[in-house]
Amino acid sequence: MDAKFSFLNKVDRDPGNLIKGLQLVQAAEGYVSDDGIRAVAEYFSIPPVEVEGVVSFYAQFKRVKPGRHKISVCDGTACHIKGAAQVLEWMRQELRIDSGETTDDGKFSLETVACLGCCSLAPVMSVDGKVYGKLDRKKMVKILKEF
Ligand code: FES
Repeated sequence: MDAKFSFLNKVDRDPGNLIKGLQLVQAAEGYVSDDGIRAVAEYFSIPPVEVEGVVSFYAQFKRVKPGRHKISVCDGTACHIKGAAQVLEWMRQELRIDSGETTDDGKFSLETVACLGCCSLAPVMSVDGKVYGKLDRKKMVKILKEF
């Protein structure tokens, strides 16, 4: 097993701990890489294809390396009514990624979230945890350029 995954030794090799092992990999890498899948498979003596199946079954696991900046577009009720779908479309056009993806240069990753708690500012997004509201395309592009 690759030494960088030696933290797996913290859990018993019981296959019942597979999820725990995958959570440790994701905590260390920010996602579950191909190397992470192989290390977990080897550690628990489970075929890699089965580990891959578990990872794809659970929404908590990410298979795409996160970007350096995390964009969260709110699609809660208030933002949905005020144009969250339009914001996501602008993101698609500006960054060429959909929700759940990372730009080719690794700069941004995009996700959709339920509510950022600033509904009166809808439509809302956050970048690295900082919230931006009352978005229109011009404002969104300006914010992206700050990064
Ligand atoms: S619904 Fe978007 S901030 Fe609440």
